[in-house]
Amino acid sequence: MVKFNEIKGFAFDLDGVITDTAKYHAQAWQKIANQVGTKWTPQLADSLKGISRMDSLEMILKAGNHENEYSSEEKVKLAAQKNENYIELIKSLTPNDILPGIADLIKSMQKQHYLLSLASVSLNAPVIMERLGLTEAFVGRVDPATLKKGKPDPEIYIKAAQIMNLPPEQVIGLEDAAAGITSINEANETSLGIGNSQTLSEADLIFPNTQAVTLDAIAEKMNI
Ligand code: BG6
Ligand code: MG
Repeated sequence: MVKFNEIKGFAFDLDGVITDTAKYHAQAWQKIANQVGTKWTPQLADSLKGISRMDSLEMILKAGNHENEYSSEEKVKLAAQKNENYIELIKSLTPNDILPGIADLIKSMQKQHYLLSLASVSLNAPVIMERLGLTEAFVGRVDPATLKKGKPDPEIYIKAAQIMNLPPEQVIGLEDAAAGITSINEANETSLGIGNSQTLSEADLIFPNTQAVTLDAIAEKMNI
């Protein structure tokens, strides 16, 4: 692992790292799963974290063996319906919905002149970042519409480093999902997982929750 003093920038996932929208994605998908007749389980919910909208729908259909029952048009409609459910749930997000410790973490990074970029596959990311009042803190965001492949492919984290003009070795990626950790690792960045240490076992650094993530704690884990 690289040493902490080589790090110059941080690439943030959004849902489940900056704000707890992961639970709203799950609620919105659960309705669709019920509609298509796929049993909703905690495992299915977990496997969808970090996965793009259309890929998530495919996984839900597949989990119930319904993948051949819908035309492309019907799939687009189902995905749009999910997004309507989701947009309703995130309507009233405010800066109070930033996860514990994350606002302070971002402030301390800015103070120490680290660069920040956003590596979310969510097409709703710009509006969420605005509602949280965080847009200005980031030098930029990867536009998911430009991606050939979503997470776990490394493309999004490679682009997140390019936005900061940094080589991947100087970047830490922050993620709550296994697919995201794989993406960071394959982009040759340092992966920081937030959440369950079993689900995130591939991460270089693991923190149990957002509150525990501070620059000092990261430095301590990297410099041993
Ligand atoms: C990711 C979430 O950040 O964005 C996924 O973890 C979600 O659950 C994906 O499916 C796409 O989001 P959206 O807002 O474009 O449907
Ligand atoms: Mg996430």
